[in-house]
Amino acid sequence: MPFKTIIEPFRIKTVEPIRHTTRTEREQALKEAGYNLFLLKAKDVLIDLLTDSGTGAMSSAQWAGMMQGDESYAGADSFYRFEAAACEITGFKHIIPTHQGRAAERILFGSTLKPGHIVPNNTHFDTTRANVEYRQATALDIPIAEGRQPQLQHPFKGNIDLAALEQVITENPGQVPLAMITVTNNSGGGQPVSMANIRAANEICHRHDVPLFLDACRFAENAWFIKTREEGYADRTPLEIAQEMFSYVAGCTMSAKKDGLANIGGFLALNDDDLAQRCKNMLILTEGFPTYGGLAGYDLEAIAVGLHEVLDEDYLRYRIRSVAYLGDILTREGIPIVQPPGGHAIYIDAKAMLPHIPQSEYPAWALSLVLYLEGGIRSVEIGSVMFGQQPDGSEKPAAMELVRLAFPRRVYTQSHVDYLAEVLVYVNKLRDRIRGVAIVDAPSILRHFTARLAPAYNELIGG
Ligand code: F0G
Repeated sequence: MPFKTIIEPFRIKTVEPIRHTTRTEREQALKEAGYNLFLLKAKDVLIDLLTDSGTGAMSSAQWAGMMQGDESYAGADSFYRFEAAACEITGFKHIIPTHQGRAAERILFGSTLKPGHIVPNNTHFDTTRANVEYRQATALDIPIAEGRQPQLQHPFKGNIDLAALEQVITENPGQVPLAMITVTNNSGGGQPVSMANIRAANEICHRHDVPLFLDACRFAENAWFIKTREEGYADRTPLEIAQEMFSYVAGCTMSAKKDGLANIGGFLALNDDDLAQRCKNMLILTEGFPTYGGLAGYDLEAIAVGLHEVLDEDYLRYRIRSVAYLGDILTREGIPIVQPPGGHAIYIDAKAMLPHIPQSEYPAWALSLVLYLEGGIRSVEIGSVMFGQQPDGSEKPAAMELVRLAFPRRVYTQSHVDYLAEVLVYVNKLRDRIRGVAIVDAPSILRHFTARLAPAYNELIGG
């Protein structure tokens, strides 16, 4: 083809208005929300990049599928279509539907972890970490060293540190009931994990009889990075690559709100019959019967179609390119971001952008507030508000202070992204005047969702 422009591979059939607000209105909205973007009303947000989870646009084929939802309590056709889709990709024997990813985590950890256990992972996401810690076990993050240096270029910064994995298993015999790899590594910048790394991690785990699980929320995006960056995969389809990724592990947890292209749903999948039975028992207790697991039949249909659509090459090419497009503009403008751009999000390195704000005053949180104040953009802090609070109540600064701009799937167009870039360039010019924030009131776990904060010096932007 003589044309290079990568277009959105869809046209728009249904639209949803978004609304401009004035700066004064946003100032007021922030005050009312306790300077916590999670507590804003969505109608007061112009471009919502809080998360890529459950916020995607469904296709006409998904909506059509939903009309065929079989709402039978047990043995619904919708379940078998869902199971077949998940099974084709993962190859696992037991596919256990859940209402979202964290329910799969809770059931898996509830069936495997005891107090004192250790779960190594390249990087746990917030709910995964919280679910491990809830069992009085330790969630141990062991990404490769390159993964902790935002500006460093590396094709697979999401890789797990293999030496550290082997070390934690050998030094804690009987205390590591499972290991995990998160693809892509969300808290580490949406960075991919290579096939070689998954294969090698599996060899280590296999040798020590420790089952390895994938946190597979963004498996398709990870497969695309393998296809485009890892030798030997250029001619393989995303489906074949995903199948190979899953072939090296004992099971997975999955949030279908990401690469399931659905608004709700998830699953736990595994081969071990005994563990599957224990998980299903727990599922019945808290989610529902194993052929619906807390979902409506129509949700299962949406996921079955979504799992197929997400592996489409045109979709993945556009998806990864649209995130990189923003990354390229910001890089050109000298705005520090995690390099290279991730699969589902751009992560601004707030520590580098706002060196005058100490970590104790939450620079990434402060920056996310200013992006809303100036441009009506909602992002999320992945820094010391999210991760600074330790299980014993003490405070430890997070490894990185990031602002994540997560892209809902198939929702925003290139002109939305151009607007976003304009706001970021504008805010970058104000950076020396941005002030830190303080926590006024916070719960003892997962504080970022409901904490109330305040500007540390009266104003978010000083004179
Ligand atoms: N694992 C990862 C890597 C995630 O990113 C998420 C959710 C989960 C597990 C939990 O899945 O939301 O369906 O219960 N991440 C969202 C985000 C919320 O904004 O990144 P869930």
